[in-house]
Amino acid sequence: MLKVDDIWHIYETGRKALKGVSFEMSEGIVALVGPNGSGKTTLAKHLNGLLKPTRGRVIVDGMDTREHTVAELSRKVGYVFQNPEHMFFEEDVLREVAFGPRNLGLSEEEVEERVRWALRAVNLEGYEERTPYSLSGGEKQRLAIACVLAMKPKYLVLDEPTTGLDAKAERSVIETIRYLRGEGHGIILITHDMDLVLELAERVILLHRGKKVYDGPVEEFYRIPLEEYGLETPELLRLADKLGVGFVKSIDELISSATGGEV
Ligand SMILES: Nc1ncnc2c1ncn2[C@@H]1O[C@H](COP(=O)(O)OP(=O)(O)OP(=O)(O)O)[C@@H](O)[C@H]1O
Ligand SMILES: [Mg+2]
Repeated sequence: MLKVDDIWHIYETGRKALKGVSFEMSEGIVALVGPNGSGKTTLAKHLNGLLKPTRGRVIVDGMDTREHTVAELSRKVGYVFQNPEHMFFEEDVLREVAFGPRNLGLSEEEVEERVRWALRAVNLEGYEERTPYSLSGGEKQRLAIACVLAMKPKYLVLDEPTTGLDAKAERSVIETIRYLRGEGHGIILITHDMDLVLELAERVILLHRGKKVYDGPVEEFYRIPLEEYGLETPELLRLADKLGVGFVKSIDELISSATGGEV
């Protein structure tokens, strides 16, 4: 279980980025949303120990992040950065993805198997010999996810994983996230895309000025006035509302609710 217990984070500048945030999760997809500067990335970096709380504690499967290194915690929590280009340092894609599992001391056979699996999961087969820096933005994003997947962490934190991706690349990342959820991983999805939240998340945590202002099922999340938090209600839900239909997650559901299933 991931347990965030009343954490505060005050940066050296004096900025209070988190002001008493608590939650627990183990499985499923939790969307972490909120306007720019609300503390999402700051919170995410606490989950694998990149940042330590100024006050409060973060416990990852019984491990207090203040008492463990980032390397130890990264076996449990994979973190894909908001801007992943800064995380590559190997000369080709194959070595980049193999780096983490190799460091875990796995056999070469197991390393190879994980690399192949991770590259397939993000649709980057055939890119093994490319230099990470030569990849497009969307390909870099997927490579960053593959690097984390190859570690097979129980929890995954994805900081805006679909920002800047074209529709096909976005689909491939969405399918990967779905697959991982099915495998029993706990996923924290940070995004500004309210359609994506609707499609993928079971639970939503909304941050505003460093505080948690909503934590609950996705259905009820859309009842709060999102515009007040700089967020947008998906068109699909606005249409459902106008048609007098309840909560739906897809166009198909909307059509079948609106027509009584007679289409
Ligand atoms: N290294 C830092 N030093 C000082 N202040 C910081 C630092 N990193 C972030 N902050 C501040 O902390 C607050 C929260 O930032 P954070 O990056 O967590 O927001 P966010 O919700 O991820 O925003 P975005 O949607 O823009 O990614 C902001 O006011 C930001 O300016
Ligand atoms: Mg951020």
